[in-house]
Amino acid sequence: MFTRYRNLAVPAHAYGKYRRDPLMMLVTAGYDLLQWAEGFASTPDPGNGIDTDFFDAIVTDRAVVAGDTSVVALTFAAHGGVDLPPWSAGAHVDVRLNSGAVRQYSLCGDPADRGRYRIAVRLVPGGRGGSAEMHESLAVGAMLRISRPRNAFPLAVGGFGQRVPTVRFIAGGIGITPILPMLGVLDRLGMPWSIIYCGRDLESLAFRDELSCFGDKVVVHLDDRDGIATPDALLGDLDIGSAVYVCGPPPMIDAVRCALAERPDVEFHYERFSAAPVVDGREFRMRLASTGEEITVRADQTALGALLDVRPNATYSCRQGFCRSCAVRVLDGTIDHRSTALNPAESEQGYFLPCVSRSPDCLTLDL
Ligand code: FES
Repeated sequence: MFTRYRNLAVPAHAYGKYRRDPLMMLVTAGYDLLQWAEGFASTPDPGNGIDTDFFDAIVTDRAVVAGDTSVVALTFAAHGGVDLPPWSAGAHVDVRLNSGAVRQYSLCGDPADRGRYRIAVRLVPGGRGGSAEMHESLAVGAMLRISRPRNAFPLAVGGFGQRVPTVRFIAGGIGITPILPMLGVLDRLGMPWSIIYCGRDLESLAFRDELSCFGDKVVVHLDDRDGIATPDALLGDLDIGSAVYVCGPPPMIDAVRCALAERPDVEFHYERFSAAPVVDGREFRMRLASTGEEITVRADQTALGALLDVRPNATYSCRQGFCRSCAVRVLDGTIDHRSTALNPAESEQGYFLPCVSRSPDCLTLDL
C-alpha cells in the first residue's frame, strides 16, 4: 500500500538549479531496480502500517566519544554479515528500540564501509526515554531493527568541469554527526572546507579525537569560553560563492539563515534534529475513536505533542513530516495536510501526519 523509500539519496544539483541532480536520479533509479531484482534480505516492518523497510542489525561496537561521557557511538552490522545498504554523507536511519520507540540518528561512519553503520547518541536527561534506552540497553551483541538509510541533508559535490565552492560547515553539539562523514568525503576529493564546531564546553564535544586529524580546518567555539556564537563569528570570513551546511539547535540554524538572507551568492543547507515551531497554528480538537477521549491541540502545539500527552507510546521519529512513522488514520474531520510525504492514495485513505498536519475543526482518529 505504501511506497518504499529509496535507499540511495539523490544529491542536490551542484549549482542548485534542480532540487535533485537529474543524472543521479537516473543512476539511483537503475540501482533500485537492480536491488529489487536481487531481493535484498530485508523485511517490511508493519509498525503503524507504514512500510519503512526495517532489517535486523547487531551492535558490534560501543564507545564513549565525549569527555563528559554524554555521547556514545554505536556501530552496527547486518545480521548474517551481509553488506549493508549503501548510503551517502548526511543520511540517517530509523532505529526501532525494544520498547517499540523509533528514533532517527545520522550515520556518522564512513560511507565507503559497506559492512558497518555508526551512529552517536547524546543522552538527553528528562527526554522521552529514547536516548536513555540507547545508552542503557544496547550492549555489544544486542539485536535491534534499523531502517534503510534516507538522506534529507545531502552533500552537493560538483562534478567534472564544475566550479568548486568553499564549504563552511557549522555544527552545534550532536549536530556534528551528519557532518562528520561529509568532512571525510570533501577531504578525499581535495575540496576546500572548514568547520566551526560549537558546544557548551570542551568536554561536551563528541569526536574531538577524530576531528583533530583535520588540523586548523576545525575551529572550536565554546559557550563557556567564547560566549554564544554570533552570526559574525560563524560567517564573518565566508568567501564569495561558498556553500554553508548547518546542523545544530534551531536558534543556531535560524540565526545563520537570517544572516545569509542578504547573501544570494551563498548556498544554504541545513538539518534540524528537532521539530520546527508551529506556524499559523489554530487550536483544534481530536477524538480517539476507541475510547471517545477528547484532546485539545493548542495553537502553538503539534497534534503529535498533544497525542503524546495521553498516549506516550505513540510512534514517531523525525517530528518534521518526512519519515511518516507517526501516520494515523482519520475517520472523520477535515485534515490540513502540511507535509507531502504521504502519497495521494494514502491521503485519500485518510492518513495524516500529526507531527506537522492540523485541522480547522475536529478529527476523529482511528486510535
Ligand atoms: S514523526 Fe516523522 S513524519 Fe511524523
